Amino acid sequence: MNTLYDNHGRPISYLRLSVTDRCNLRCFYCMPAEGVPYVPKKSLLSYEEMLRICRVLAENGVSKVRITGGEPFVRKGLVPFLHQLTALKGIEAVNITTNGVLTAPYIAELKAMGIKSVNLSLDTLDADRFYAITRRNKFYAVMDCLEKLLAAGIETKINTVVMDGQNIEDILPLVALAKTHPVSVRFIEEMPFNGEGQHYPVLHWTHKKILNHIQEAYPHLKRLPSSPGATSTNYEIPGFQGNFGIIAAFSRTFCGSCNRIRMTAQGDLKTCLYGDPVLQVRDLMRSGASDETLLHTFKHVFQQRARDGFEAEQLRASGVVTESMSTIGG
Ligand code: GTP
Ligand code: 5AD
Ligand code: SF4
Repeated sequence: MNTLYDNHGRPISYLRLSVTDRCNLRCFYCMPAEGVPYVPKKSLLSYEEMLRICRVLAENGVSKVRITGGEPFVRKGLVPFLHQLTALKGIEAVNITTNGVLTAPYIAELKAMGIKSVNLSLDTLDADRFYAITRRNKFYAVMDCLEKLLAAGIETKINTVVMDGQNIEDILPLVALAKTHPVSVRFIEEMPFNGEGQHYPVLHWTHKKILNHIQEAYPHLKRLPSSPGATSTNYEIPGFQGNFGIIAAFSRTFCGSCNRIRMTAQGDLKTCLYGDPVLQVRDLMRSGASDETLLHTFKHVFQQRARDGFEAEQLRASGVVTESMSTIGG
């Protein structure tokens, strides 16, 4: 099997594919209340174009694709596309990151096509705080999705962005969910991607502070071994069915083993979440590039990859971040 490597010897085996920049929530850490300007439809990659990119990468060692957004389920035709993607030779895992608002009706079909794992964004267990954070009244739809994912036996990870003054009181109740359910609850450091343009902020809730907070309630927690390339450090608590994890997304303690690349919905290839796009793949394909040219160009940009987010950060002229997570794809 061919494998793609970057210039730091890291294998590239994981593609995060954003299928849309649109979303049906307005989480304040991701975008302003009025939303972000949408990319025109014709500028989005078509499903055929996405499949082609995935095929070329899968022939060269990329075995895992995570579908992201915006919110993936707001794009029409997602489920038929997933059928084609899961059938591609070389793709061993297709996972989805979703906010759960529209997902529940598709869960049985996802399971039937071999999708084993879903990451669900859920920042609070309180309906009022959910509204304050997402600016939409969809709490019960998301809780219904969680219940159905667990009932279907799909591996479920809850993603919770930890926000000072917003959902600190939710940390321990969310951890407690893992006592009675086989779920992994992952607490994420807030990143500066809220689409409003801001200087890199001071991080109040670092991974260390989150861990200390949980450890005060559960002194007997134990660190679990981590899988290569994982974003989260996971912990088990004696007697719990599930576990919890912490994603140091802002401190970036996991860059050294980063195995992932990202494709935005408009076909910008990014080799780091914190870096600028390195290639416009949609234009390259629409100009008639062959599969060989695509692969050759991918290999070329993978050899220019920043070692970690700090290197990429230094490349930013202004130090101001204007992107929204929904445009980048998380
Ligand atoms: P798994 O495949 O289950 O490990 O999922 P994941 O953690 O890679 O993906 P998910 O979409 O659930 O993202 C969880 C959080 O991790 C989000 O806030 C992402 O933006 C963040 N994240 C994912 N990949 C990276 C990365 O390469 N760098 C940084 N700094 N954060 C990341
Ligand atoms: N900081 C940290 N995580 C974020 N996400 C979205 N915006 C941010 C941010 N500013 C998370 C979502 C989702 C995942 C793809 O990214 O909660 O779970
Ligand atoms: Fe939508 Fe996800 Fe952004 Fe929330 S974090 S507004 S669910 S894209």
